[in-house]
Amino acid sequence: MDVAAWCSQSRVWVIAGKGGVGKTTITAALAATAASAGLSVLVIELEGRHGLGAAFGRRDPVGYAPVVLRGRSPDDPETLGKPPEGAVWARRLTPDDALLEYLADHGLQRVSKRLVSSGVVDVVATAIPGIRDVLVLGKVKQLERAGAADMVLLDAPATGHAMTFLTSASGLLDAARGGPVRQQAADVVELLRDSARCRVLPVTLPEEMPVSETVESAQLLRERVGVHLGPVVVNCHEKGAAELEVPTADAAREAGVTLDPAALDALEAARAYRLRRIRLVEEQVERLARELPLPQLRLPRLNAASIGPAELDQLAAAMASAIETLPAPEDAT
Ligand SMILES: Nc1ncnc2c1ncn2[C@@H]1O[C@H](COP(=O)(O)OP(=O)(O)O)[C@@H](O)[C@H]1O
Ligand SMILES: [Mg+2]
Repeated sequence: MDVAAWCSQSRVWVIAGKGGVGKTTITAALAATAASAGLSVLVIELEGRHGLGAAFGRRDPVGYAPVVLRGRSPDDPETLGKPPEGAVWARRLTPDDALLEYLADHGLQRVSKRLVSSGVVDVVATAIPGIRDVLVLGKVKQLERAGAADMVLLDAPATGHAMTFLTSASGLLDAARGGPVRQQAADVVELLRDSARCRVLPVTLPEEMPVSETVESAQLLRERVGVHLGPVVVNCHEKGAAELEVPTADAAREAGVTLDPAALDALEAARAYRLRRIRLVEEQVERLARELPLPQLRLPRLNAASIGPAELDQLAAAMASAIETLPAPEDAT
């Protein structure tokens, strides 16, 4: 499928998965991929961590005011205007940030700062479970409505929290009888259920535990919230079993190389280890396809200590080719 067309299927994309599977990395890679295809991208960072900016070569963590991660820099990024085509902007959005904006939008600007600094969010959050998530997603809904960018990417909190993050609004909808909280929750649920507006991309590693957890949480999200899922991103995918089938001794003979027995043993052990590892990966990827029948976007494990701009470009290129091989959707489900 054409990359720009694929990215334009929904405006809001939630990148979800267990902690450490590469959500932030995949968010960055997808942002870079979409920007290269000419879209304007806004990444919402919920935890104010460092990884997203670092992937784009930025030293400081992303703050509340939008920062330019890639592309043409607007004169004043703090205007909250729309990033230009091919640009990636990012901003942080915590429940406190979202509450401040909500209060300001409702004419309560003067008291809002004081309320937030006095920790009222915590009091409200204790009284109304799920309100933090609904505040944040309510703000995301507003950004989506306002057309804040062609693509709004949400780097979701780690699973566990990501599950409540996405199910809170449905829960609140059942609990709240009326008023602004119910309205906000209803708007969020409507956004999450509409595949033309929002999609959830589960990210997993091709390993037993993450795959099981991905299958389980995907089912829960479908049942409880009715989100549109997929494709599944398989991060750190490894292939190349075919080249490893040849025993080291045979390969050495074919290449006309003479190895001393210690070197041969070591290489043979390494070959066996890699082959076993790749077979395990294959097994898990097949199980994932069976238990969660969604298309897969497979991205390679890079041999790098950390993900910076060069690694990001490699991942974005791999992502673009993976998207290009996806079949065009017959029908949105
Ligand atoms: N495809 C990859 N190849 C190599 N390293 C990766 C890859 N994806 C993620 N990483 C590394 O794995 C670690 C966890 O990734 P991160 O994106 O921070 O995960 P999460 O946001 O899910 O916690 C980071 O150190 C990151 O640089
Ligand atoms: Mg992260």
